[in-house]
Amino acid sequence: MSDPRHTLIKTASYEAEPGEVGRVLLLYSGGLDTSVMLKWIQDEYEADVVALTVNLGQPGEDYEVVKGKALHLGALDCHVVDARAEFAREYVLPAIKANALYGGGYPLFTALGRPLIAKLAVEYAQRTGCDTIAHGCTGKGNDQVRIESTVIALDPSMKIIAPVRGWQMGREEEIAYAREHGIAVKGGTETPPYSIDDNLWGRSSEGGPIEDLEEPPHDDVFQLVTRPEEAPDEPEDVVVGFEGGAPVSLDGERLGLVELLERAGELGARHGVGIVDHIEDRIVGLKVRDLYEVPAAAIILPAHKELEKLVGTIHQNNFKPHLDDHWAYLVYAGLWYEPLLSDLNALMDSVNEQVTGEITMRLYKGSARAVARRSPNALYDPALAGFGESGGLFSQQASPGFIELWSLQSRMAYNVRNRGRSRNDD
Ligand code: ARG
Repeated sequence: MSDPRHTLIKTASYEAEPGEVGRVLLLYSGGLDTSVMLKWIQDEYEADVVALTVNLGQPGEDYEVVKGKALHLGALDCHVVDARAEFAREYVLPAIKANALYGGGYPLFTALGRPLIAKLAVEYAQRTGCDTIAHGCTGKGNDQVRIESTVIALDPSMKIIAPVRGWQMGREEEIAYAREHGIAVKGGTETPPYSIDDNLWGRSSEGGPIEDLEEPPHDDVFQLVTRPEEAPDEPEDVVVGFEGGAPVSLDGERLGLVELLERAGELGARHGVGIVDHIEDRIVGLKVRDLYEVPAAAIILPAHKELEKLVGTIHQNNFKPHLDDHWAYLVYAGLWYEPLLSDLNALMDSVNEQVTGEITMRLYKGSARAVARRSPNALYDPALAGFGESGGLFSQQASPGFIELWSLQSRMAYNVRNRGRSRNDD
């Protein structure tokens, strides 16, 4: 290949050779990478490009402008899909039921969005006669894994190209290419300090000064959540209502899921809630640092977990967190169509049938904690749990017998292991 910007070393059967590409469905955001791609694919592959832009509730996006830009750059068409309701219902809700946090801190918003974006890419590619899907992910991240795994699961005949992974243009060269081809560069040509991704369940920043692990986050990272030190001096309580594990109301007002998540996000953002400084093990082996702003998740997930604990038995409460962790790991790792995930979802749904009630969360300068609970399904009886006399319902006289049998094997093992040691040895 003559152009040094175009070097494809094919390592997977689904990667498209230039000769195989007729029409390309491009996952288009309107940013620099995918705008350069839009033009570059037409030139390098002599292929038609259909653009697809997916709205998952990323704040402040003007889709008319994005569409206009795609058409201006020669896209045959630019489809803008409002997928917020599907995202909330089919992706965020299962994550809530699974208390989904990867690595103990990341509520998976990007990881939840990618399989939906990829599914829509397959649908629109098939509908518009495209043989190839193009995306703007790099070769270092998780998103390529999520998008490509989904595409080839849903349509094994679909080809994929990921130009950013192959072309040897850095940001400077991309800007030069954009200038050469009349592509407007959003926000000017200054190097943006961070790489951002967002949707209605959260926002991430990576790169630039964040890569210096010894440095606390710079203030300019946080565009969504108020800095906790600047949050209101008065706490605010919000009552989150759940039915069957799904959040259905805030302070008694019933809301659709998208609106509820958006409102929870606004409340949390105002109180500085949901800033996560996260060291993360990527699926491709890299360890990186992410700064997350997840104000909705930081209220809804702990509220859900609190209610689940109240209605679950000791056995459910001990067991489910292991499965929750594995759920988050599979989704993080891009295996949305892995059967084990459906198996886990069956358990999540079953446990969540009982998760109905209300949790009051107190928001105050960066913290969100449960301060009150109510549920018709609570396995809680104040008469039993209290320090007062509970009559015949709970027999304290039965406790010593229980203790004797409960501790039997442990005591026996302890004594076997310490055979021969006299009492005075320890
Ligand atoms: N670390 C997160 C994840 O792997 C966020 C990734 C954000 N993606 C991006 N292209 N900036 O899901």
